[in-house]
Amino acid sequence: MIEEINKNLEHLSLERIKEILPEYIHKTSKNPPPLSESLNYLLNEEITFKNDRASLGIIKAANFPFRKTLDDYDFSFQPSVSENQIRELSNLSFIENHENIVFIGNSGVGKTHLAVALGIEAAKHRNSVYFITCHNLMTKLNKAQKENRLDKQLQHLAQYKVLIIDEIGYLPVDHQGSNLFFQLIARRYMNKSTIVTTNMPFSRWGEVFSDNTLASAVLDRLLHYSHIIRITGNSYRIKDKIVESDSRSNEYNE
Ligand SMILES: Nc1ncnc2c1ncn2[C@@H]1O[C@H](COP(=O)(O)OP(=O)(O)OP(=O)(O)O)[C@@H](O)[C@H]1O
Ligand SMILES: [Mg+2]
Repeated sequence: MIEEINKNLEHLSLERIKEILPEYIHKTSKNPPPLSESLNYLLNEEITFKNDRASLGIIKAANFPFRKTLDDYDFSFQPSVSENQIRELSNLSFIENHENIVFIGNSGVGKTHLAVALGIEAAKHRNSVYFITCHNLMTKLNKAQKENRLDKQLQHLAQYKVLIIDEIGYLPVDHQGSNLFFQLIARRYMNKSTIVTTNMPFSRWGEVFSDNTLASAVLDRLLHYSHIIRITGNSYRIKDKIVESDSRSNEYNE
């Protein structure tokens, strides 16, 4: 009998049930629960297994530079970030509402960390996510244009439920690049969520995109339905150095 069950489970690709069934039958043999309870338990195990596998696939394909979560973020180090606001965003209603998120602040304050953490949360709930730096995005779009497949590339990038564009402002974007960037943002506007990180105040995006009009058009669409998270604290990367130098300067003061 168990052999036939195994064959059927395989046929239906119910791998997790196949894996745990022998142990489950053994464990419950003395006091078998009602059939509905057993069925419910086994099906839930299968669903969890399939969800986890799918999420992991999305996370692997998302191209994250590292895997860090909200629990890895020390909110007490960065009081300018409202933990409540970030936790609320992690409920992911921003994806359903096609809203954008902009992390703005100096180097090392955790913009990429928080963007990745929200991306991982989105992936865990089986939303397609892709992470790319602004510089790599420009390379990708320019190459696609040269190879006469811009429309396909834009279509591909426009379909992600969440697109994370990291490091806007670190390198200038030329006029042609700005045009391509605008086309992508315009396609995603009111349709899909985009998370961006930047060190540049919005008033200087004209410099970044080498064109005030295009920069305004990009900002208009990006900010219309958006959550703006301004982070004003110190860099986490050099926090120990700051503490060290603080304690050293205390030593010197004594
Ligand atoms: N508040 C924090 N708690 C824990 N880790 C943090 C915190 N802020 C930053 N980090 C860690 O510090 C490092 C730098 O953070 P991150 O890369 O997110 O900075 P950033 O704001 O994107 O900087 P940049 O503008 O230079 O790219 C990462 O390893 C990140 O995980
Ligand atoms: Mg960063």
